Amino acid sequence: MPGTVIVGTQWGDEGKGRFTDYLAKESELVVRYQGGHNAGHTIVVDGEVFALQLVPSGVLYDWVTPVIANGVVVDPAVLIDEIDMLCRKGVDATRVRLSGNAHLIMPYHQELDRVTERYLGKNKLGTTKRGIGPAYADKAARVGIRVQDLLDPKIFRAKLELALREKNGVLAKVYNRLPLDANEICERYLAMLPRLEPMIADTVHLVHEALDAGQRVLFEGAQATYLDLDHGTYPFVTSSNPIAGGVCTGAGVGPGAVDRVIGVTKAYTTRVGAGPFPTELFEGDAVGDLLVERGHEFGTNTGRRRRPGWLDAVMLRHAVRLNGCTEIAMTKLDVLAPLTELKVCVAYEDDDGARYEHVPYHQSVLHKVRPVYETLPGWGGEIDDAARVEDLPAAARDYVRFVEEIARVPVSFVSVGPGREQTVVLPRAA
Ligand code: IMP
Repeated sequence: MPGTVIVGTQWGDEGKGRFTDYLAKESELVVRYQGGHNAGHTIVVDGEVFALQLVPSGVLYDWVTPVIANGVVVDPAVLIDEIDMLCRKGVDATRVRLSGNAHLIMPYHQELDRVTERYLGKNKLGTTKRGIGPAYADKAARVGIRVQDLLDPKIFRAKLELALREKNGVLAKVYNRLPLDANEICERYLAMLPRLEPMIADTVHLVHEALDAGQRVLFEGAQATYLDLDHGTYPFVTSSNPIAGGVCTGAGVGPGAVDRVIGVTKAYTTRVGAGPFPTELFEGDAVGDLLVERGHEFGTNTGRRRRPGWLDAVMLRHAVRLNGCTEIAMTKLDVLAPLTELKVCVAYEDDDGARYEHVPYHQSVLHKVRPVYETLPGWGGEIDDAARVEDLPAAARDYVRFVEEIARVPVSFVSVGPGREQTVVLPRAA
């Protein structure tokens, strides 16, 4: 049975975790295929909040095997802390399987992430400073250290010393920082091996065995389409490929292994960090402030205030193409409740009057365009207890229908609150 991919269609923080959680219930395997602990999923179960960064959301179901595949970059201390946190809350997270081919985030990656951001000054990317970019850079430069290297302490030390020779040179000579100590890092990382070893597995084999056995496999994207290294708003992107195609390299499956791609779309837009954002509502804008406040738009991970804006259907249409979305899951529709008017960006215009109905490939253009909005009526009342589509006010249903028409794929789910049960399943997906 082919697998399902769940992917954000905006700049992240669409609320993918809650749908992953929802779909994980029907899955045997939930697989993270890219990113690292720059992600942050919040899942609320019976009022208890689970904030996950690295462990796949499916961990909360005891029949699910959560898999951290080869495409992920892993800070082992973060993984162990997360597993301990889950165990304290009564979730047996030792079921997690970790690819031996996944790359390790090392202390120098985090240090370099911090200092390079500082060095970039006003041109900084606004990274999460978790060492993600430097870890992927080392992977591509073929000087990365993989999880499997921990299994052979001699190899681990040799690779670490080799890497540190260059990193310490850069840290000291370019950034005027103190060198890092190989002994200290070696000891710290190898001390974690007894905790990690039982989890290390051939995850490609695991995924294929599950697919061959007709089990349901859910591939959980972190970050989102417009943070994709190739297709996002480069350079204001992350260093991996969150789009559905990333599943092939990040988990080791062919394109035929996927037949359902769910694009998670927030009913409005947010982004953290720098970069172009055509529908942005700047700080002080009453609607923008309302979206941030009602939507609790502060990073799970970094606490940063997210930049808010109206829904951008131009970007959504393009995201549907890039991912081959078969459907959309819309989140946080409830946040829009008090607004009397809702805007959706349906095209862009530049100063010369040129109109764009697709995302312009030249980023200088994207920086300068103005959104062309279509205005829809709001519904002016809370919807957080809606359980079925008929419980939604007509204007809320019209908003969903408008998005379907413009994205050219059906909306299968709508979320109306943070709780697991606050999900409206649209009839055609039933
Ligand atoms: P990095 O992934 O830490 O290198 O950060 C690169 C860009 O991706 C920055 O703009 C971050 O704010 C953004 N980013 C990374 N992870 C997430 C996420 O999970 N949600 C939203 N933005 C993210």
